[in-house]
Amino acid sequence: MIPKDFDPNVPNIARIYDYMLGGKDNFAADRAAAAQIAAAFPEAPEGVRQNRVFLRQAVSYLAGQAGIRQFLDLGAGLPTQQNAHEVAHSSAPDAHVVYVDVDPVVCVHGRALLGGTEGVAMVEADFREPDRILADPKVCELIDFDRPAALMLVAVLHFVGDEAYDIVAALRAALAPGSYLVISHMLDAEERKADGSQVKQVYSRASAGLNLRTKDEILRFFDGFELLDNDLFLPPELFARFSGLGWGAVARKP
Ligand SMILES: C[S@@+](CC[C@H](N)C(=O)[O-])C[C@H]1O[C@@H](n2cnc3c(N)ncnc32)[C@H](O)[C@@H]1O
Repeated sequence: MIPKDFDPNVPNIARIYDYMLGGKDNFAADRAAAAQIAAAFPEAPEGVRQNRVFLRQAVSYLAGQAGIRQFLDLGAGLPTQQNAHEVAHSSAPDAHVVYVDVDPVVCVHGRALLGGTEGVAMVEADFREPDRILADPKVCELIDFDRPAALMLVAVLHFVGDEAYDIVAALRAALAPGSYLVISHMLDAEERKADGSQVKQVYSRASAGLNLRTKDEILRFFDGFELLDNDLFLPPELFARFSGLGWGAVARKP
């Protein structure tokens, strides 16, 4: 099934990312956009791979040491190897995982990959409407917001403007104490302003525009939460290597 708004000539944020990860679900326009991004940020292809390592390490820690059994992954992206549910199920086979993505093509792929995997669902929705996410029947069937859960917004908030702060605040408020927030985000680094502008240009012609943020601006998304030591998820030298490109963290609701 091909969704009606599908246009392979417009670079698509999910497919650009898929291409950078070495995936096959992309078109010439996506590959051209990825090449322009890599021209400005040669470390981007490795950076997106390390972003996936960060995501997997975070899920592994949360399903393992932290004992989390419910994961809500917003802006989940095209299925790739070692998805969140596979990582969570390796230590907690009873964990529930709900993937949410606004892109219908991503959701078709996601559902095909998941088949009937127990306790896992793919929901097509826009997380800029947090009330709808929190009331979605599939989300509510699998995620009990009275119990600790992990909310994941990995490599996606930079596609949302200033309204992102209210959206994330509404989502944080819905989480029970002992819940976790996992975020990674492209950086607005002082020393890479010109490169950042180039990448913004590329995304201005794509399916969503780009909003780079400083580390302090990203930290605001964790308001009221306690940051965990990032060494649990990626070695410090990797955070240093990508200090012009992106940053992320995991935090716990007290
Ligand atoms: C760069 S990919 C990141 C995928 C995955 N989170 C990761 O880090 O590997 C961003 C994904 O977010 C999705 N997305 C962007 N804006 C969204 C929104 N408002 N609501 C839901 N999904 C969104 C895109 O369709 C895309 O699949």
